[in-house]
Amino acid sequence: MPITTCIFDAYGTLFDVAAAARQAAAEPDFAALRDTWPVLAEHWRLKQLQYTWLRAITDAHTDFWQVTQDGLDWALDKSGHAGDPALRARLLALYWELQAYPEVPTMLRALKAAGLNTAILSNGSPDMLNGAVASAGIGDVLDACLSVESVGIFKPDARVYDLVGQRFDCARDEVLFVSSNGWDAAGAAGYGFVTAWVNRAGDPVDRLPWTPPHILPDLTGIPALAGV
Ligand code: LAC
Repeated sequence: MPITTCIFDAYGTLFDVAAAARQAAAEPDFAALRDTWPVLAEHWRLKQLQYTWLRAITDAHTDFWQVTQDGLDWALDKSGHAGDPALRARLLALYWELQAYPEVPTMLRALKAAGLNTAILSNGSPDMLNGAVASAGIGDVLDACLSVESVGIFKPDARVYDLVGQRFDCARDEVLFVSSNGWDAAGAAGYGFVTAWVNRAGDPVDRLPWTPPHILPDLTGIPALAGV
């Protein structure tokens, strides 16, 4: 089937999740992070994701803003910054206005100009996603922001991927699903979407039962993959 619908993961795929720690570390008030921010960012992201998986399999859902704060608290504690409420507040504020990767606006414009459906499908809560989309200025090239909050469970539960067909009335193999998270790309491939893993870091392929058929270094190749 030709691709009619391009669906994007948000955090790490369209929006650079390391930007909050990187930006705070460049501010005079938080110079203590100058050398350590990459480790803090990595711990924050990893714990945030682990908490989504653990909450999904134990039927203990809460929204992504809560697990984002919980992950940050663990990461701050691990790096000896647990007693710095100003740093915590600054990092959380920056999470609401993460930078989009530079190729994002042009890539989305190309898809929209070709008449394809475009949307975000994310663990993010609707208000977090609206904040990030507004701050990146990409609201006019997205048809929808689909949030797991409407089903109350995190990815990679199939009920989350079901939201795409419900919104766009399309078959699974008409959907190009794009994620920088190897586990999300694998889950979506298992679900039946045509899947592209954006592997900016050159990471190894996840050892899971499903493998994304397309692996790209960034998002510039997405329009071509979608047949544009
Ligand atoms: C999301 C997370 C997984 O946006 O990055 O859904």
